[in-house]
Amino acid sequence: MDLKSPSQIVGALAIGALLIAACGSDDVSPASTDAAVDESTQDAEVDATADAGVVTVYTGRHYGIEPVFDEFTAATGIEVRFTTGNDPELRERLVAEGANTPADVVMTADASNIELAAAAGLLAPLTSDVLTSTIPEELRSASGEWFTLSERARVIISSTERVDDPPTTYAGVGDPAWDGRICLRPSTHPYTQSLVASLVMAEGEERATEIVQSWVDNEPLYINSDTDIYKAVADGECDIAIANTYYLGRLLTEDPTFPVQIVWPEQDGRGAHVNVSTAAVTANAPNPENGQALIEWLATDGQAQFANVNFEYPADPAVAPDPIVAAWGEFKADLAAVRDLGANQPTAVEILDTTGYE
Ligand code: FE2
Repeated sequence: MDLKSPSQIVGALAIGALLIAACGSDDVSPASTDAAVDESTQDAEVDATADAGVVTVYTGRHYGIEPVFDEFTAATGIEVRFTTGNDPELRERLVAEGANTPADVVMTADASNIELAAAAGLLAPLTSDVLTSTIPEELRSASGEWFTLSERARVIISSTERVDDPPTTYAGVGDPAWDGRICLRPSTHPYTQSLVASLVMAEGEERATEIVQSWVDNEPLYINSDTDIYKAVADGECDIAIANTYYLGRLLTEDPTFPVQIVWPEQDGRGAHVNVSTAAVTANAPNPENGQALIEWLATDGQAQFANVNFEYPADPAVAPDPIVAAWGEFKADLAAVRDLGANQPTAVEILDTTGYE
């Protein structure tokens, strides 16, 4: 677990920047749409030519990446071509392209999905002193196949106008007091699946099933957009919900009085569920050296910009977050679970199915 104490944050501010960026477009699942995707998407003109001055990226994390890549090009002279999609789509594309893929780097918005890519043999282990000295051990695969670039906390949120005593545990969301008052992301979304995977790890399968059943029994309003979940809490469609924090960063930028607050869950135990934005070099990369150079740059010189543009938390604890994020204060994060979310995802999907979670 990782305690982001005020002293750490002050230290981080002095050193660099803990970043949090409001991710919007990787919020999108196959079943949903989001205008932010089109705004931030620039499909690469990809081909399988190994061009020494180019790195090609498939990314499931979309929001604000283009200016970050431009900075990398300015710093290194290496051009970045990128194409976007959701994590499973891009993984399937890598499988289909096999040895002919133009992709040097794959980036995901979810820990389980990068683990699935690793398990499918799609990633190449890296040997990098830069990455192992910058990214905490619990935020990178033991085999060196993928590295976290930023953390995304999935927390309880509540109306500042109608809720005086919000739950402080994920199980508390299932208290009958919240019957008819909660909003949740659908079961098909990786954010939901990874959250439930973290419950399985922390509570065991039987208790995790009870917790998810209690959420279902509260008859949630299912909304397949975290931004819309925040707005639903603000507008009174529900009083509490579970959502990622970075969306609040964006909403507060637009409206500093936005009437929804973060409640850090599980602070007397394992800490808030944290998912991650990751990067890896592909197994069939035409330019693996350039791919590694990009990931190392994003973990160091580009780390603050990468995380801050989306109000996420930088993977490097020495880098400070955006001031809006820092203002949310310290919290305990369940970083120890990150590596094993993928392994527990199948059980999570089974629980979501058997409990009738929509
Ligand atoms: Fe997102």
